[in-house]
Amino acid sequence: MPGTLSEAPMQTDESADLSAAARAILRANDRGGYTVPTDRLYPFQWNWDSCFVAMGWATFDEVRGWQEVARLLDSQWDDGMVPSVIFHAPSDDYFPGPAVYAVLRTPPTSGTANPPVLTTAIRRMHDTARDNSAAAASVAEMFPRLVRNHRWWQEARDPQGIGLVATLHPWETGMDNSPAWDAALARVPTETQTIIRRRDTFHVDPAMRPHAEDYQRFIHLVDLFRGVGWDAARSYAVSPFRVADIGTNAILLRAEHDLLALAQRHGTAAERAEIAGRIAALQAGIARLWSAEHGVFLSYDLIADATIPAATAAGLLPLFAAAASPDQAAAMAATIRAWCRTAPWPVASADPVGATFEPRRYWRGPVWAVVNWMIAEGLRLQRQDATADFVRASTRQTIAQAGFSEYFDPRTADGLGGARFSWTAAIYLLLADVPPDPAHLV
Ligand code: GLC
Repeated sequence: MPGTLSEAPMQTDESADLSAAARAILRANDRGGYTVPTDRLYPFQWNWDSCFVAMGWATFDEVRGWQEVARLLDSQWDDGMVPSVIFHAPSDDYFPGPAVYAVLRTPPTSGTANPPVLTTAIRRMHDTARDNSAAAASVAEMFPRLVRNHRWWQEARDPQGIGLVATLHPWETGMDNSPAWDAALARVPTETQTIIRRRDTFHVDPAMRPHAEDYQRFIHLVDLFRGVGWDAARSYAVSPFRVADIGTNAILLRAEHDLLALAQRHGTAAERAEIAGRIAALQAGIARLWSAEHGVFLSYDLIADATIPAATAAGLLPLFAAAASPDQAAAMAATIRAWCRTAPWPVASADPVGATFEPRRYWRGPVWAVVNWMIAEGLRLQRQDATADFVRASTRQTIAQAGFSEYFDPRTADGLGGARFSWTAAIYLLLADVPPDPAHLV
């Protein structure tokens, strides 16, 4: 059974062995300065994976942690976007590869964005660094590029200034087949110009992956954006999929707080004012998405102009940005416990009593360690310590039982998807490594 609130800490020997195993996974998935999510299934550098992985590296090799984020920023586009995938070396193991995106860069990249965990990773590595001068030098170099990236989110993805950024492709949310995207994705045609040659279903049981029709719609969107040359404004205008993902917005708000903290030393007064302005706007935007009925925040469909009534783990991420009121934070802690009555291993990626719940299919139910880490950090930030400890202990116990899988069944804690996953290993290391004073953002 999963951890209870009073659970004793795990045996030191076991956890030391698991930490050693986690470090070995990062080393095995290291391709020389960047880390693949796992061998074969994901043979390139993925943006938000790398951010968690960099924090994991930094728990035992700070130089390698800084290198991971530097490689990611090296592929930042001229307009400020940091792409979701960087195709450092060719591989036939993954679809869609660089030819489908047709982004003319070296190395080639995808054309889509990813949840902006980068600034948070950099701030954390800076604040926990043992080598302070190396950390300060890295931040000094990266800070202007982070500023450009945050401006990109605002200008390219909130052109009307509503206080919420749009995601134009489910892949940008990192939660590809979340039930929250069902209705919005159904408006995307299934016709594609690209011939679909999926590779994922060779590596992993198709019952644990998105459906074929999802993939057709995913690729339809890629075809469309490629057709407008990946221009940010034109992509926004032509996209039949435009949602304000609560996960991406919460992660961005957290990143803005972290950028402001870095700006105290590395930015100008004008930059600090600019960041504070974006924080206020995002905070107001996110506040409008609270649902007392669901006990979580919801995403918003910007084309249908309607709230998306699907309770998912992404809706708990405003905790990570300390964007919830004390009552809302307590309600979300209660939601996590309520979900555990049906699916005892927290945190299911979607409401386990919802009609769309599928405990083994990717983002439609399974537990993801990175999401748990953000939720647990957020619960601590918002003074829900007992639930934070519960999520942390259960996540460690899940990994101890099932190994470093890509994701886990929330009813049984079985490991699902790919094995020897970098971000799961990184989270195991982070859960052992609690920063001294987490209870503030700036
Ligand atoms: C899948 C996940 C995404 C992750 C990627 C690499 O596409 O949905 O969130 O970044 O795999 O692990």
